[in-house]
Amino acid sequence: MKTLPHLNTTLALPIIAPFRTTKYSIRDNNPYDELYKKYSSIMEINPKLTRELVSYQGSKKQAFYRWLKFKEAFSSDLIKHFLELYSPSNAKDPSILDPFAGTGTALTVAANAGWKATGIEIMPIGVAAIKARLVASKINTVKFNRVYKKFKTTNFYSNNNSKAKIGYLTITKGAFHLKTELALINYLDFLAKIKDDDIRYIFWFACLSILEDISYTRKDGQYLRWDCRSDRKLKSQFNKGQISQFHDALDQKLNIIIEDIRMYKDSKNINSIKVIEGSCLDEIPLMTKDKFNLIITSPPYCNRYDYTRTYALELAFMGKDDEAVKDLRQCMLSCTVENKSKKQAFEDYYNRKGDGRAFKEIQRRFDNQKELKEIIQNLINARDEDKLNNNNIPNLVENYFYELNVLIGEFYRILKPGGRVIMVNDNVQYNGDEIPVDLILSDFASMAGFTIEHIWILPNGKGNSSQQMGVHGRNELRKCVYVWQKK
Ligand SMILES: C[S@@+](CC[C@H](N)C(=O)[O-])C[C@H]1O[C@@H](n2cnc3c(N)ncnc32)[C@H](O)[C@@H]1O
Repeated sequence: MKTLPHLNTTLALPIIAPFRTTKYSIRDNNPYDELYKKYSSIMEINPKLTRELVSYQGSKKQAFYRWLKFKEAFSSDLIKHFLELYSPSNAKDPSILDPFAGTGTALTVAANAGWKATGIEIMPIGVAAIKARLVASKINTVKFNRVYKKFKTTNFYSNNNSKAKIGYLTITKGAFHLKTELALINYLDFLAKIKDDDIRYIFWFACLSILEDISYTRKDGQYLRWDCRSDRKLKSQFNKGQISQFHDALDQKLNIIIEDIRMYKDSKNINSIKVIEGSCLDEIPLMTKDKFNLIITSPPYCNRYDYTRTYALELAFMGKDDEAVKDLRQCMLSCTVENKSKKQAFEDYYNRKGDGRAFKEIQRRFDNQKELKEIIQNLINARDEDKLNNNNIPNLVENYFYELNVLIGEFYRILKPGGRVIMVNDNVQYNGDEIPVDLILSDFASMAGFTIEHIWILPNGKGNSSQQMGVHGRNELRKCVYVWQKK
């Protein structure tokens, strides 16, 4: 069994100089010794990168970021920090790309700081959240208040003959109490009567943002957790606590939105944000070279977290059916056991483009990363010995790294010389073995031509899942921010 090199014991000591990084200490005889040695000089624990700074927890109370609960988001302070650190000194119109834009935290912060911001996002809910911020910046608050007053006095629980329907997926069927479903249907009719497109959009988005609160479900990593008060036959007695009433929940959300919109009026440059709804794996190869000064991003982690399940209620509300969601999952960066290999599609694409050499280069980099090969082989062996809880885990790991390897090569191409990639990602563990995602991706980046400037490690890592902890004990997995520069 392979284990992690443990965190430097100096970590336990009080940090006297608050922002001085500490060298990460590598244990002797760890399984990927050569790889660790290659990057040890730049692996540092960065006390500034607290969990609060890096992830959504810290941004719950921040205007605009509190409309939709998207726990996978960056904190806006993290982006501010990196923009200050890596603003090109002589660029007239610095440009930034977030290829896994989510709800667009990087884009909004960068645009406010005067950057030209482009984002790519495949999940319609992320795109909707970005669009809501853009729409909000030009909304007429007088008209908005007029519609709000109407909302306040409307009874959404009266029976009607509406043709409107609340869509559902197999996994969301029965998620709302019948009374709530009726209110949702009445609300769709109410929306249809709002003439101003922008105001209608914000009222629709507000409803999208409360679906979890008014439902019998709770987002829970790989799936939706069902409350025992639902009509589903359940083994567990899970009770999510208070289930909000439709009208109250929406009223609260609209008030938050109104409050933020008033402040939003001052935000600069927000409408210069360009958002592409689609897969960055398709979109980036179409971009011209030397285009961006900075790429800041956080891809899905290699941890089986399924965005399409977590956001199933919202996807259904947006009109997606089971088939559409299945297709969406397949187009995302592979991070679930259901994802199929996209390798053939890449090969076909580069050949069609007359760039078979680029594909050979991708393949060469992938084949030359020998620690990943060893990891995949170990997983295959574990699968054959029935030690994995899902037989597709080796494929998931291979697909995840293959796709990011393709993207890293493309990042190099579309960045201006001197441009940087800043990536936030977590290491993961399967069958008790850590996968050093930070080192493998940095190694791909190095092979693609990047200088690996930093592998910053968050002072507090992440425990492995409770399931794995039971079998393999507690291992702290590194959460990291990598900085790569194009020469
Ligand atoms: C960790 S989240 C990023 C969150 C983002 N930093 C924010 O602040 O909201 C990863 C995002 O990547 C998106 N994603 C996954 N595969 C994608 C693909 N092939 N192309 C574009 N986006 C993708 C997911 O939908 C998810 O929103």
